[in-house]
Amino acid sequence: MRSFKSSSRPAQVLLAITLLASCSGQGDAGADRSDEESKVKGYTMDQHSHARPEEAVITHLDLDITVDPAQRTIAGVAAYRIKGAEHGRIILDTDDIRVESVLDQAGSPLEFELGDSSFLGRPLEVELKATTSSIAIKYRTGRNAKALQWLSPQQTADKEHPFLFTQGQAILTRSWIPVQDSPGIRFTYDATVRVPEALMAVMSAINPQERSSDGVYHFKQERPIPAYLIALAVGDIVFKPVDDRTGVYAERSVVDKAAWEFADMGDMLRTAEDLYGPYRWGRYDVIVLPPSFPFGGMENPCLTFATPTILAGDRSLTALVAHELAHSWSGNLVTNATWNDFWLNEGFTVYFEGRISEAIYGPDYAGMLQQLGRQDLELTLAQIAKSKHPEDSRLRLDLAGRDPDDGMTDVAYEKGAAFLRLIESKVGRAKFDSFIRQYFDEFAFQSMTTDRFLSYLEAQLLAPNKVKLDLAEWVDGSGLPANAPTPVSDRFVKVDKEIKRWEEGAGPRDLATEEWSTFEWMHFLRHLPKELSEARLKELDRAFGFTKSGNAEVLAAWFEVCIRNDHDEAYDRLDDFLATVGRRKFLVPLYTEMTRTEKGRIMAQTIYKNARPNYHSVSVRTIDELLSWKDDHPPVNF
Ligand code: BES
Ligand code: ZN
Repeated sequence: MRSFKSSSRPAQVLLAITLLASCSGQGDAGADRSDEESKVKGYTMDQHSHARPEEAVITHLDLDITVDPAQRTIAGVAAYRIKGAEHGRIILDTDDIRVESVLDQAGSPLEFELGDSSFLGRPLEVELKATTSSIAIKYRTGRNAKALQWLSPQQTADKEHPFLFTQGQAILTRSWIPVQDSPGIRFTYDATVRVPEALMAVMSAINPQERSSDGVYHFKQERPIPAYLIALAVGDIVFKPVDDRTGVYAERSVVDKAAWEFADMGDMLRTAEDLYGPYRWGRYDVIVLPPSFPFGGMENPCLTFATPTILAGDRSLTALVAHELAHSWSGNLVTNATWNDFWLNEGFTVYFEGRISEAIYGPDYAGMLQQLGRQDLELTLAQIAKSKHPEDSRLRLDLAGRDPDDGMTDVAYEKGAAFLRLIESKVGRAKFDSFIRQYFDEFAFQSMTTDRFLSYLEAQLLAPNKVKLDLAEWVDGSGLPANAPTPVSDRFVKVDKEIKRWEEGAGPRDLATEEWSTFEWMHFLRHLPKELSEARLKELDRAFGFTKSGNAEVLAAWFEVCIRNDHDEAYDRLDDFLATVGRRKFLVPLYTEMTRTEKGRIMAQTIYKNARPNYHSVSVRTIDELLSWKDDHPPVNF
């Protein structure tokens, strides 16, 4: 690697950006004066990227990489078409990446410099000539590339071949591709990916459905996307169609189950289009990953990445597919300009997911989904209120100086969706729907700030309909405003009645549970009395078989009850679950519950020591912090 003296410029740049961007935090609702201040040439300042797109910006990526599971590295060339070379330099983001050379379109070397390292990684500054139209960066990923999870055969379903997947959101793509890693910067991409012949590669692009004979795969993403949506998975993967526009990828032993579980994908897609306009990405497929995937789902364009923990065997958890599909509009088409505007991605998506679910599974189902979401939000708000960052309960975040991942909570999802439901209730569904559709059309393939959205909302929907709303309270206020609509669910009222009967002495088998769906069981488990005797727990488990459940949501909710009451009959299964499942949403409440007692803390440390090597870096970061984990083997860099 060429070594350069580190310059102090990145720190200054960061400071300047932080100061500038902080101007945009206080904009009064409906006006976009502050928005203008933080914008240069149409770009909103992003505190989480070193890029300066107002100088030089990437417009297209040609990626040519070799994936080596044995060495656990990706190496190759990221070549970019760029605009703005006359500014004399371009700055990209990297994290734990070794840059070997940078060449221009004629193959002549360009000077480059890697700046200081911080939680944002290291800026890569490349000197440009006025005539530079493209740059080709030869690089190799590091041992601890945060986006990548390399799995041994043992960590996969079929246990025969290694597996690799990437997770880009929020700022991890820079750890496997040197790139301008900001949600406000979009580009198209072509990729050539070379993998061992026994494996197949898929990306967030139009994908192959068959194996290639030589392990070389070509991809094209013709729509401009931000860097966090570039994704790659490599493994012994096969494809099975669901209908002519949708299908699933998974390991061989999983693909049939997945195709059955997601049979409604085609319907979901049509329903979404009927609501908010054409699907603009060609195909919509889902890949079911090994269980260490840290999220439920990730909306990578054309190909949602999903956890296998939604394969419940009864199609009861497929709202997650509706959610990730909805991101094809909210998030992937109209994208949060910075991570402070994250609610524009997730709040809209939860709202939209609810509408798809309502249309396909009915209002009862959607009502339960909303109630569960509200329960999550209330817990989150209570935790945030006593945390180091009580301001995280605002919709518009201020994540300057912090890893954006830390501010991405249920607030964006559920308070965001509640805000949209409130607006819907004020103007009526028909008007709200045509407003949203127009919003997606008008801002397609662009980024959106909170201020810009509020101005548009005011001008296009609220003012013409003479609706007055305290937008500032919703966007910059803490907690949940008093006018938030309250979700109702008759079916949960029935569950509450059965809980009461059980508390008053009815036997579990006498409860009217025959018709219950996963959501009712979740509500049941969440609302059992906090303290339960061993006899009561045994009785429940014998009647309903929770510890043996194949439904991850039910299992996780049950484990919380068991840990709280030290019901140790469930601990073998809990240990197993935490050793295989890396989905952060399950890990956080379970490890948190364990930290409440001395015995639990010791158990958490023991389980985690064994499970940690199976988790992706985003889960490791969270659980390390939760358990104040001291790593015996700190990461090895170059
Ligand atoms: N985009 C998110 C996942 C994400 C958020 C990744 C923040 C990195 C940072 C995805 O769309 C999502 O919200 N997934 C949820 C499922 C959903 C049904 C609420 C999840 O993973 O649980
Ligand atoms: Zn989402």
